[in-house]
Amino acid sequence: MKVEGAWRRTIERDGHAVRVLDQAKLPYAVEWLRLVTLADCARAIRDMHVRGAPLIGVTAAYGVAIALAEGTPLDEAIRLLAATRPTAINLRWALERMRGANDAFAEADRIAEEDVALCGAIGEHGLPLVKGAAKTGRARVLTHCNAGWLATVDWGTALAPIYKAHEAGVDVHVWVDETRPRNQGLLTAWELAQHGVPHTVIADNAGGHLMQKGEVDLCLVGTDRTTRSGDVCNKIGTYLKALAAHDNGVPFYAAVPSPSIDWTLDDGAAIPIEERSGDEVRFIAGREVVPPGIPVANPAFDVTPRRLVTGLVTERGVAPATADGLRVLFPEHAR
Ligand code: MRU
Repeated sequence: MKVEGAWRRTIERDGHAVRVLDQAKLPYAVEWLRLVTLADCARAIRDMHVRGAPLIGVTAAYGVAIALAEGTPLDEAIRLLAATRPTAINLRWALERMRGANDAFAEADRIAEEDVALCGAIGEHGLPLVKGAAKTGRARVLTHCNAGWLATVDWGTALAPIYKAHEAGVDVHVWVDETRPRNQGLLTAWELAQHGVPHTVIADNAGGHLMQKGEVDLCLVGTDRTTRSGDVCNKIGTYLKALAAHDNGVPFYAAVPSPSIDWTLDDGAAIPIEERSGDEVRFIAGREVVPPGIPVANPAFDVTPRRLVTGLVTERGVAPATADGLRVLFPEHAR
């Protein structure tokens, strides 16, 4: 990925520490944070200096390695990190991987490298969808939240096919949902701009209208947890986009690396939905826009039922959003 013209990753090993691009500062400032202690790693995940399901998992893996180097017992480190954010299954997946590691830093490095490979493969498998969407000569893709390289180590999930298409000379334009209350759409706009991919930020409520007007060819989103039967949990507001896409005949795909699949769950309704501080709704850029005394709520994710999902773009190919579809691609998880 390109950060101000230089090739970087969102998380980079620095001895027995890591450097991460501080997403709480983007897109207004490009700053790197050095995570040196277990507490630094837990805080970075909880306060969303790093975010996005795959990157949360990788940061937690390094958190375990750092904790062990500090002399913190493994179980204590895992307990602390597991409690940082409840919805992204990649966190639990990475912590389980670390439980069995002989050399913790080497295992965390492997998880990071694998993430790059998974996302690159998702890009290749999703590329034909973007090419196929360019019926008018231009592929107009709507995305929600940030499922780009900022949410992973490199490439991204939902944005990987877009980068691959852009590299292949396909004319792509991305409608970027603002994604209130945390405005992850601004992260998407920032990273697309770093690579010169044309895009437009829209208010979260604009997508349905654009779909009705025939201005969206394809919806492509990420996921924090997808059930073994294909229900897709992602950033709050994803479900509304899927409903609008369904009503307007717009294909709706989720990009799903296998560490984001919860093989223990059939029903998306069982996924724990993170409830974040109401202050994220009450304040915009430090200004109190919802007056004191007015109650606010802030559920951070929602579940799009599989009937609204056209397909799942995984590192092994595109599957229908069904238990059978996933089982064919991942037979090792067949029950
Ligand atoms: O709360 P966030 O910003 O961590 O939520 C991120 C998302 O919902 C992404 O779409 C998801 O993690 C997929 S990222 C490849």
